[in-house]
Amino acid sequence: MKRRAVLGVGAAGLVAAGLGWSILEPERTGRLLHSRAPLPPKFQARLTIPPVLSGDEIVQREADLSILPGLTTRAWTYNGSFPGPTVVTRSGRPAAVTHRNRLPEPVVVHLHGGHTPAASDGYPIDLITPEGAPAAHHHDMASMTGDVSAGSRTYTYPMQQRAATLWYHDHRMGFTGPSVYRGLAGFHLVRDDEEDALPLPRGERELPLMITDRAFEADGSFRYPAGDKAYMSGVLGDVVLVNGLPWPVHEVDPARYRLRVLNASNARRYRLRLDPQPAGGGAFVQIGSDGGLLDRPRRHDTLEIAPAERFDVVVDFGRYRPGTRVRLVDRDGGDVMRFDVTGGGRGDDSAIPDRLSAGAAALPAPVRTRTFKFTEARDGTWRINDLEYRPGRALARPRLGEVERWRFVTDFHHPIHLHLNHLQVLSRNEQEPGPYDAGWKGTVDLRAAEALEVAVRFTDYTGTFMLHCHNLEHEDMAMMGDFVTEG
Ligand code: C2O
Ligand code: CU
Ligand code: CU
Repeated sequence: MKRRAVLGVGAAGLVAAGLGWSILEPERTGRLLHSRAPLPPKFQARLTIPPVLSGDEIVQREADLSILPGLTTRAWTYNGSFPGPTVVTRSGRPAAVTHRNRLPEPVVVHLHGGHTPAASDGYPIDLITPEGAPAAHHHDMASMTGDVSAGSRTYTYPMQQRAATLWYHDHRMGFTGPSVYRGLAGFHLVRDDEEDALPLPRGERELPLMITDRAFEADGSFRYPAGDKAYMSGVLGDVVLVNGLPWPVHEVDPARYRLRVLNASNARRYRLRLDPQPAGGGAFVQIGSDGGLLDRPRRHDTLEIAPAERFDVVVDFGRYRPGTRVRLVDRDGGDVMRFDVTGGGRGDDSAIPDRLSAGAAALPAPVRTRTFKFTEARDGTWRINDLEYRPGRALARPRLGEVERWRFVTDFHHPIHLHLNHLQVLSRNEQEPGPYDAGWKGTVDLRAAEALEVAVRFTDYTGTFMLHCHNLEHEDMAMMGDFVTEG
């Protein structure tokens, strides 16, 4: 019964919807879509690490990927891989990435977590039209014209920001869900001297892990219910991919590893834990969040991770006996991947310092408060302050340099994301911030009927930026708003 309700299938789901599922199903974040292809076996695929981008150009194109045994998956990719190549940049050193669009549809690129001027932030109607397509072709989309580039665009990133795990993904208005689902997502790691000076695990003991869930058609292609109103609450797949492979396995030394965990799923929220837990618990030592290192490490038995969130954690596989197979599992024991602890490898000279970063001090007191209400409209689409997204309509006009308190209140589960600056959680339901709210956050995870207060200081760049739900089906169905920073 519980499982049926959580998955939202059958009569239980319908009844729950009629009564207001927020009360009956606080964990529900979407609707499960079943694969038509046979589900792949677990722990057969070997984890791969996305290649690091060499040069500064990314070609967006279709590619046939091997994800399921015996089938190919035609994906939309950055440079032919899913996840796309990892962009690595240095704090304080400006970077530029040129995207060429050889896909059949327009695209928009957003660097999620980037402190980026508006012109390069990936505003949802600032399209890159397909190479060679007549430029006028897509201009009349919903009769809105942004800053459209024909065929390619160079995004410039000042990188005036601290070391952190960022990611880049498509952000086209109304199509972010299907575009990311088809493969348009990759890591972007920012490094800096402060972090490099710490004795954290590195090299092959630093693993970016992009977790996504997908469903597949019988021919192996991604199955996405485009235009199906039944999935307006969010699309959940029945296969969990890590770095683009189903339930992979990775051999680890009995040593500390740094896992940069990103939930790049459209709508699924995970509650991750290791099985077995190491003796004494506290398997995940969190060292960073969306916006980089915490002030000090924090131990968790489980990690709750909503769409778009990153948790930078250290796991010490030296706490396990060699030969142990350690599964990374979700709620209800659903598998994500497996780590097989070997007996060998070089020694471990890494450590987790008690003081990680000085850059995580609390912001000064806010000068004003704004409230944003995230709710469902009668037609099943989504609203912020009762408004559907319309480009050019600002929900707020904060001044650069000022600290504001933003209150978020909700009806349903919404992971809420701000562009331009990271924020700090001040309170959750009028209590202290929760265990996963520490540090600089870019997305805050709100459950049904919760209220959250965050502090944010808008800095450096005037212009139009986004505030939106990062459940991509909610985002596409209008739960997005502009805010305009003024000098
Ligand atoms: Cu990852 Cu505007 O989002
Ligand atoms: Cu973003
Ligand atoms: Cu939402």
